[in-house]
Amino acid sequence: MRGYGLRTGWPGIVEAYRDRLALVEGAAVVSLGEGATPLRFAPRLSERVGASVYLKLEGFNPTGSFKDRGMALAVTNARARGASAVICASTGNTSAAAAAYAAAAGLTSIVVVPRDGIARGKLAQALLYGARVIAIDGTFDDALRAVRELAASYDVALVNSVNPDRLEGQKTGAFEVVEQLGDAPTVHVMPVGNGGNISAYWQGYREEAARATASHLPRMVGVQASGAAPLVEGHPVEHPRTVASAIRIGNPASWTRALDAVTSSAGQVLAVSDEEILSAYILLAREESVFCEPASAASVAGLLRLQLEPSATVVCILTGHGLKDPDTALDVAPRPLPSSPVPREIAAVAGLG
Ligand code: F0G
Repeated sequence: MRGYGLRTGWPGIVEAYRDRLALVEGAAVVSLGEGATPLRFAPRLSERVGASVYLKLEGFNPTGSFKDRGMALAVTNARARGASAVICASTGNTSAAAAAYAAAAGLTSIVVVPRDGIARGKLAQALLYGARVIAIDGTFDDALRAVRELAASYDVALVNSVNPDRLEGQKTGAFEVVEQLGDAPTVHVMPVGNGGNISAYWQGYREEAARATASHLPRMVGVQASGAAPLVEGHPVEHPRTVASAIRIGNPASWTRALDAVTSSAGQVLAVSDEEILSAYILLAREESVFCEPASAASVAGLLRLQLEPSATVVCILTGHGLKDPDTALDVAPRPLPSSPVPREIAAVAGLG
């Protein structure tokens, strides 16, 4: 155990795990204090599924998603290799993280996003951190194809998860889970979009098992939205559709690696409907007081489908903060109740007495 201490003492994932990461020699580390996120026991969910459920709250990262882990290392290494600009395609969170870490590193950031395809909080972040935000008439998959081509022809470093530094940084999530639980969980559940994060966690767990800090490997369960479930369907989806915009991806770049994580761990990849995602999203808020974004709630929608032994320990990765996507929250929540400022009327409207 790391013990109790002020969070300000945490140096970020690159410094904390530098002996276990592929860091460019002599690189000056770029950090915003990412990582060391809470792993919170979820009492009501545990009771509901009949096993011990823990939630890894990745929304506590500096830009509100797990992308900060990978971006810290990707931007550190890109700058050390002489880059002056970074580029990525994004459904939103990668763009916010790239923009923030590029700003910290003194680099230019260019982010290419599907027009109308990214949640408003994420767009606000990328713009305010100073990225050049380019909104294309196309999907995330189109955007990724374009930036891969641009990075091959121009002097700009690609920081999507096809960059191995991203997955290398993200594997630290598994290191933390093992440290926080004292072992690997029995089952690990997470949303899958481009397939990078599940590949990264699998790598992290395997490294923990090789060090004997984990006694076993977890079953890896990847969850896709049913309108954007290429890994479940076994072919790319040309027009991916789901309320969970973060995982609205039809042709995952890490397809093979993601499937390998699932099959080598005797896990599974499943598709959940938007209704299941939204009901898990509301359940997390009402029963566990966790406000995550819809893609993150897909973890719990997947969890609710599983048959679990009572002795099982399950970790669900909640990948991004709920404030990323205020519009979806307001769409599913009841309206505020109008009233005059008169206390008696407020009391009546509020149902007091
Ligand atoms: N959850 C959230 C909140 C995400 O933003 C993403 C991916 C995922 C899950 C899926 O992770 O792609 O590694 O399988 N977001 C990317 C982005 C695509 O551009 O922000 P994955």
